[in-house]
Amino acid sequence: MEIRATTDNDRDVFLDTFHTALGRFTEPQADGGGAWWSALEMDRNLLAVTADGRPVGTAGAYSFELTLPGEVIVPAAGVTAVGVLPSHRRRGVLSAMMRHQLGELRARGEFLSVLLASEALIYRRFGYGPATYTSRLTVPRHRAAFAATRAPGTPDAGSIEVVRRAGSGELMEEIYDRYRRAQPGALSRPHRWWASRAGQPPTSPAPRHIAVHRDADGVADGYASYSLDPPGTTLTVDETITADDTVSTALARFVLEHDLVTQIVFKHCPPGHPLRWQLTDFRAGQPSDETDWLWVRLLDVPRALTARGWFTDGELVLDVDDPIGGEHGRHLLTVRDGKAECVPTDREPDLSLDVSDLGSIYLGGTAPSTLVRAGHIRAHRPGVADLADTLFRGERPPHCVHWF
Ligand SMILES: CC(C)(COP(=O)(O)OP(=O)(O)OC[C@H]1O[C@@H](n2cnc3c(N)ncnc32)[C@H](O)[C@@H]1OP(=O)(O)O)[C@@H](O)C(=O)NCCC(=O)NCCS
Repeated sequence: MEIRATTDNDRDVFLDTFHTALGRFTEPQADGGGAWWSALEMDRNLLAVTADGRPVGTAGAYSFELTLPGEVIVPAAGVTAVGVLPSHRRRGVLSAMMRHQLGELRARGEFLSVLLASEALIYRRFGYGPATYTSRLTVPRHRAAFAATRAPGTPDAGSIEVVRRAGSGELMEEIYDRYRRAQPGALSRPHRWWASRAGQPPTSPAPRHIAVHRDADGVADGYASYSLDPPGTTLTVDETITADDTVSTALARFVLEHDLVTQIVFKHCPPGHPLRWQLTDFRAGQPSDETDWLWVRLLDVPRALTARGWFTDGELVLDVDDPIGGEHGRHLLTVRDGKAECVPTDREPDLSLDVSDLGSIYLGGTAPSTLVRAGHIRAHRPGVADLADTLFRGERPPHCVHWF
């Protein structure tokens, strides 16, 4: 079997192979885009081909930027369109593609890759760990009253306008871009996603209302994308995009106070979201579908650790096991004044961990002590798990809403 890079000429065969792996058919594209795959980068994708020339597997990558703790923006490969024909499964096709892809990403000088996993059992063996989490929050309309708060900060002096998704792409792109630069765990949505209407709502052509928030000077600083489906029952919020808590609260109030709906569903609520605490009735906000979202893979441990921002001084010796090659080794991580140094060391380790667990704790969304208690990470001395918790925590929990 051969793993080969694709070009634009392979688009149809790539899509057909991937869709067959999913048990679907490739639907024709609407004019000028509108399908999830419109933003595929055909020079970054791989096809697995049998000795007699039949394509049996696909794997792709997008060129994203990822925001790390400390508002550091770095390139990250977004692994996508991974599939193997049902006739050729469990024979190592995926393993061959993953090895090939990891090698290629390293050769390009990339030090992080990320993905969304269809099933949680697939990617840990390739060094990926779940790093951001999400859930839905459902609020019955008749229990949506907001509680009086003691210290709401600056009251919202802004305004909200409802526009149609179809005519507001540029405005949303601009708001999203400002937001993702300030939000650890967020991915860029490159212009081609907006221009070709790739992905899922609100980037796709699906009709949506967009509540745009503007500050007192009229500058757009947040939006909520939502639909009423079917009219008069459920209002579903695809995403609320703002880096400002006051704006987020104003947008939540706006959708919660809608008439003609019985319940409001917020997709993409990050852990620790304040909304439940803002309602008079704490139990009115019902969380569900809690799940992992972004999985992270470190391709170069020292580079990745020195790239992110840090908020507490400290020192840790990390013994990192990377079973499928690459950066297997012992690293001394020293953080001073927000910057880290990471050098090889012979010192006794503080923590022994797999590179997939390092991916999980890297953005600050998974506490190292949880993975110690789970038996994933081995702590070699008392107190070191707490130290790791403090060290790896970011300025705010990481969150990613982008689907790819
Ligand atoms: C997931 C998928 C790509 C796996 O491809 P594959 O070629 O069968 O995988 P491999 O043969 O290389 O398997 C490697 C290992 O992973 C395990 N594995 C692979 N897919 C798995 C799954 N879905 N659940 C549990 N284990 C899985 C295999 O058992 C094997 O384990 P082993 O090394 O201990 O024997 C394939 O099943 C598929 O196309 N599924 C539908 C599409 C999909 O879910 N894609 C992922 C999108 S994120």
